[in-house]
Amino acid sequence: MQEPVVTEIAPDIYRVSVFVPEINLQFNHFVVDDEEPLLFHTGLRDMFPLVMGGVARVMDPSRIRWISFSHTESDECGALAEWLQAAPNATPVCSQVGSLVNRDFVSAVREARGMADGETLETGKYRFRFLRTAQLPHGWDAGLLFEETESTLLCSDLFHQNGDCEPITEADVVERARNSLREYEAGILADYVPYSPRTDRAMQRLAELNPRTLAIMHGSSYVGDGERALRELNGVLREIFGEP
Ligand SMILES: [Fe+2]
Ligand SMILES: [Fe+2]
Repeated sequence: MQEPVVTEIAPDIYRVSVFVPEINLQFNHFVVDDEEPLLFHTGLRDMFPLVMGGVARVMDPSRIRWISFSHTESDECGALAEWLQAAPNATPVCSQVGSLVNRDFVSAVREARGMADGETLETGKYRFRFLRTAQLPHGWDAGLLFEETESTLLCSDLFHQNGDCEPITEADVVERARNSLREYEAGILADYVPYSPRTDRAMQRLAELNPRTLAIMHGSSYVGDGERALRELNGVLREIFGEP
């Protein structure tokens, strides 16, 4: 694992990125510097010291008030217990489904706040709308956060790009995502997204948010026409996972 690269991708939203050359993949964690700071993605447990070091370049990690993630998986929330220890006032935030069915993981240290679809999380100057996106990118408990003031979508595994990508780009990330998903289809990481008629509806709903910045877990963050990017990614998901 390499030392984290820290980049401000939107006002007071920082991307703490750790590249793992062995698997040719970046893991990105987003920290929001606000009155009640938010961390989105804890990272893997063995990555914790690195991510913590990256976050410490932005703020005192013990200030973090909210720790959120899309779904229960090692890179999303594997270091949740470590983070809750480092940030004694932090509360885990996940979907209502997550708070019920993954209780042993998400509420093991401190009771998680289970968010209903459309519910907002206020952090000070920022307001995050929780979007229930069950099974998208994957996982019954999946959800995303949309920051409404600056139009930033914290989109987890959507737009997954392999490689050591630049922190932020205005170039096309959909083609990169298509190539990465195609690569995964050829190996043990096939079937990344469970595709159903609901996938299309969920993707259209995300597109309608018209985000300006896409905070992407694996690969570059994207700034530009988020609506168009999400509509194009919808086509890619249908093409790769929707075929019988
Ligand atoms: Fe995932
Ligand atoms: Fe991921």
